[in-house]
Amino acid sequence: MKGLASRFFASALIYAVLGMSLGVIMGMTHDHTQMPTHAHILVIGWVSFALFGFFYHLFPAAALTRIATAQFWLAEVSLLTMVAGLLLIFSGRPELGEPFAGVGSIGVLLSTILFAINAWPTVRSS
Ligand code: HEM
Ligand code: HEM
Repeated sequence: MKGLASRFFASALIYAVLGMSLGVIMGMTHDHTQMPTHAHILVIGWVSFALFGFFYHLFPAAALTRIATAQFWLAEVSLLTMVAGLLLIFSGRPELGEPFAGVGSIGVLLSTILFAINAWPTVRSS
């Protein structure tokens, strides 16, 4: 793996370890209040980012566009912001966490729209 594919997949591996660690802590403490945080670290950070990594590995030309670089940075910064917000919300500080979760989740959505625009020509070409 090279370039953007490698960077996306490497970040997915980090999110897999972090998200599952949180899951194990939740299981051991019988305290599931951070369940949505755990779920979204894993379904966005591990699963979706790994898919982005595989896509760019399979179609390296798609990784060379400016839109792909923008998607990568927006996705990474936004997920970190969203996770920080979720952690705060579910540790009893919703007034602090909600702006982060809101901005972060809109960023995640925008980065996915960038991915869709970038991937579309590859997906639709013969
Ligand atoms: C070491 C591995 C893992 C552990 C120990 C773990 C642990 C947990 C625990 C304790 C809950 C709370 C269950 C509840 O309160 O009903 C949970 C929920 C959840 N986990 Fe994990 N988990 C692990 C891996 C994963 C992975 C790999 C994913 C996704 C790729 C994932 C996605 C979810 C989701 C989506 C929920 C919410 C389920 C719901 O809405 O009922 N987990 N997990
Ligand atoms: C912009 C990104 C996203 C936002 C803002 C978002 C928001 C939410 C919200 C508000 C809930 C309800 C939580 C609750 O009732 O406690 C939820 C649950 C869930 N979402 Fe997402 N989501 C996003 C992305 C995703 C993605 C990409 C996946 C899967 C690949 C996913 C999978 C799930 C699952 C499995 C649940 C049920 C688990 C839970 O209650 O925590 N979400 N999401």
